[in-house]
Amino acid sequence: MYQHVKILHISDLHIEGLPARRYAEVEKSLAVVKARLIAARPDLVVVTGDLTTHGSAKVEDLVLAKDWLDALDMPYLVVGGNHDLGSNQSRGMDYPETEFYEELPFHHTGFAQVFGTHMVETADLGVVEVMTINIRNGDPDGTIPILQKLVEAGTKPLLIFGHYPLVNVRERGILANFGFDEFIPDSVDLLRQAIIGSSRIRVYGCGHVHANTVRALSSECLQMSAGALGPGSSSYRVLSIDQNQLHYETVIGDGPLGFWERLVVDFHEDVEYHLGEPWERSGVWNLFTS
Ligand SMILES: [Fe+2]
Ligand SMILES: [Fe+2]
Repeated sequence: MYQHVKILHISDLHIEGLPARRYAEVEKSLAVVKARLIAARPDLVVVTGDLTTHGSAKVEDLVLAKDWLDALDMPYLVVGGNHDLGSNQSRGMDYPETEFYEELPFHHTGFAQVFGTHMVETADLGVVEVMTINIRNGDPDGTIPILQKLVEAGTKPLLIFGHYPLVNVRERGILANFGFDEFIPDSVDLLRQAIIGSSRIRVYGCGHVHANTVRALSSECLQMSAGALGPGSSSYRVLSIDQNQLHYETVIGDGPLGFWERLVVDFHEDVEYHLGEPWERSGVWNLFTS
């Protein structure tokens, strides 16, 4: 008997508490997609961060995001993005309203308190295991050693999810230089080594870049970013596991296609930049190495 597992990978909802900060198109998209997620009846939803824009400084916004996820009424795991859980002191000082840095152990941060989550969480889905990781620059919470210990303790194919990409997702435009450098500069190399150092880690899923991308971290591990559910690129991923293969698909949401045009002057890119080439949107990946 084959076991079929379905995981929905969503990211970067950027839910806003203050009505004045909300965009009608984003609100509508989130509502449309929410209904689709519920209808999809997955085994697990994984959210790779930036559930909010102001949650690192405003715990009420994190509560709103939790309410949104709870309303799905399905199992989910969350990762804190730089807007939910400040990534480092320097950005915290530069952007105190959107990336506030809490000089506290992880378990005392607003994000951990609201979601009741640990640095690393695991879900055993039968044929595969899923882990989510919360990391801040310099790894003050010891996330990487915990991850390594848990990775070594199991044997099943493993899908790991964090907020930040570990390699650049595009060769041109803003995303050729945006991802981890300003957020976890002192920890990205160690984290990447930990991920590619184990052949049981087959997928590293992430968010943050607001684009739907696939890049190889190694010959054994694919990095996959999901788009940004509300603000664009409005999309999410469906990961279906059948026997020993992972089928990944991209579902287009109902919101803006591109995100970066709104922030970067004279930036115009094509659909492929935001949603990926056909092979980035859908494909098959073996979960077992031969
Ligand atoms: Fe984001
Ligand atoms: Fe982010």
